[in-house]
Amino acid sequence: MTTVGGSEGGPGRAIRGSEGGPGRAAGGGGAGRRDAVALRLEGVRKSFGPLEVLRGIDLEVAEHEVVCLIGASGSGKSTLLRCIDLLEPIDAGRILVHGEEITAPGVDVDRVRRRIGIVFQAFNLFPHMTVLRNVTLAPEKVLRKDPREAEAEALALLERFGLAEKRDEYPDRLSGGQQQRVAIIRALAMRPDVLLLDEVTSALDPELIAEVLDVIRELARQGMTMVIATHEMGFARETADRVCLLDGGVILEEGPPERIFSEPREPRTREFLRRIVEAGRL
Ligand SMILES: Nc1ncnc2c1ncn2[C@@H]1O[C@H](COP(=O)(O)OP(=O)(O)OP(=O)(O)O)[C@@H](O)[C@H]1O
Ligand SMILES: [Mg+2]
Repeated sequence: MTTVGGSEGGPGRAIRGSEGGPGRAAGGGGAGRRDAVALRLEGVRKSFGPLEVLRGIDLEVAEHEVVCLIGASGSGKSTLLRCIDLLEPIDAGRILVHGEEITAPGVDVDRVRRRIGIVFQAFNLFPHMTVLRNVTLAPEKVLRKDPREAEAEALALLERFGLAEKRDEYPDRLSGGQQQRVAIIRALAMRPDVLLLDEVTSALDPELIAEVLDVIRELARQGMTMVIATHEMGFARETADRVCLLDGGVILEEGPPERIFSEPREPRTREFLRRIVEAGRL
């Protein structure tokens, strides 16, 4: 079983990429913030009937850190993200966001979800609403933002990600890549503490993948804390501060991408990467 802060057995992973990961400033700017850990999972277990999918997940994600979850199909990446967003109840363990235990009994689930953005492979935009309305709806209805303020913020986001001219279009008039970018922008409009992305490029044609990955890269540069389930190893290698391999219901191996991809320690990680290479995905 892995321990919180890393299975490396090394001298406890310091906040952000201590093993020489890309150097966005360590938790920079959080003056006075006591808890630089954005997300923490302790011994998280989850079964579906007799199938034990998560068997004790320990994971700590620092503020501004980008963690990529990799692993075979069915290894539990989506389940893990869904547990973090409280879409699935966990069977054991705890999940904390900025020190608050969100899995404690009696916690207001809606309030917690406001702090966590999640984007899925299928973009789930509201088809009968314009791009702009898709983005402003939750800030207005859930955060009770003034409509003008919500609109100004939505337009700023659309502008930032090159979609301002699509503000009045309906989703079915956008390309898949554009729709996925709107879905990401919609999650960002809620100003989440943590953004969870589940295979957000896997429904897209290859030529559309790049534009979505560009958005995620940009968010990483700007310090958004993210946990990303992905089969895009090249992207994980380039963007993640840390890569975690899920196998057998635990995080079998974790570390900075350059180490995981070039010198995997666990035989099962080597086997996983060998299959990825064979499939031409690395
Ligand atoms: N709601 C559910 N009910 C029953 N079994 C489920 C449910 N959701 C997931 N599972 C099972 O849990 C296991 C993990 O699924 P999960 O979707 O988390 O894997 P994954 O790592 O995201 O796979 P992929 O790479 O294909 O997306 C699978 O065996 C899946 O069939
Ligand atoms: Mg999945």
